[in-house]
Amino acid sequence: MTLNDWFKKALREGWAVPHLNISSLEQLKAMVNVALRLSSPLHIGTSSGEAKYLGMRQCVALIRSFREDTGLPIFLNSDHFGNVEEAKRAVDAGYDSIHIDLSREPFELNIKGTKEVVEYAKSKNKEISVEGELGYLRGSSKVQKEVIQINPEDMTDPEQAVKFVKETKIDRLAPVVGNLHGIAANEPNLDIARVANIRVSLPDFVSLVLHGGSGIPDEQIREAVKAGINNIHVNTEIRVVYADALRKFVTENPEETTPYKILPPVIEAMEKKIEEKIKLFGSVNRI
Ligand code: G3H
Ligand code: ZN
Repeated sequence: MTLNDWFKKALREGWAVPHLNISSLEQLKAMVNVALRLSSPLHIGTSSGEAKYLGMRQCVALIRSFREDTGLPIFLNSDHFGNVEEAKRAVDAGYDSIHIDLSREPFELNIKGTKEVVEYAKSKNKEISVEGELGYLRGSSKVQKEVIQINPEDMTDPEQAVKFVKETKIDRLAPVVGNLHGIAANEPNLDIARVANIRVSLPDFVSLVLHGGSGIPDEQIREAVKAGINNIHVNTEIRVVYADALRKFVTENPEETTPYKILPPVIEAMEKKIEEKIKLFGSVNRI
């Protein structure tokens, strides 16, 4: 099954494919361990910064080797790549999935650049899945002390979404529906009616992606999936667990210098959080 096949299955059956970000091997190991235990497909993302740190070709090789060794449906995504050239480099490096995020550009330029990436990606790899983004998604993947206000004009307009999807021919749309990146001082309040409205306006073969999965109350996530979200991104909550567990271990064991002894408790702590999310998204026992 291709990644797009997994999205179609998720939409049909009412669950969401987990998209989890990595910038270390330990994060990936934790994700693969949980996905294997729970029989869940995995969509792994590297943002531009994460990909620069790890290396695009190195990420592709890592994902491929885990896929071959475990048989897991595990796919690599270029998360929020912010320009056409960078997205094309991810295609060339062998990414299975591209997210080209030109949402800060004027609408027509967003269409033009996203369309160019779709055409390039599909000409190189028929099975690739491409995502575009529409709306103003605030925040970044960290714990933020301040309140982040989402304005009505930040949100994705369903009519514009229809035009955007039609002209770009993307496989997945990332809308802004009350979500934000990271954990803000205020609780997000998803506009579920807007999710449902966008969902019914688009053809079934187009996936709806919820970004900024950290900090959204479980009940709202369940409602969003019911309304048609079939792919959910989480980064910050796993980063927080990683950093807390690492700090705790090195503080309690100041003499320990061997990475493979320092990092297993960190992996174990992340596994708990990942398991929580995979269960919440309903992707357990779907393989
Ligand atoms: O693309 C990445 C995600 O949208 C992560 O969002 O850091 O709020 O979980 P998050
Ligand atoms: Zn995102």
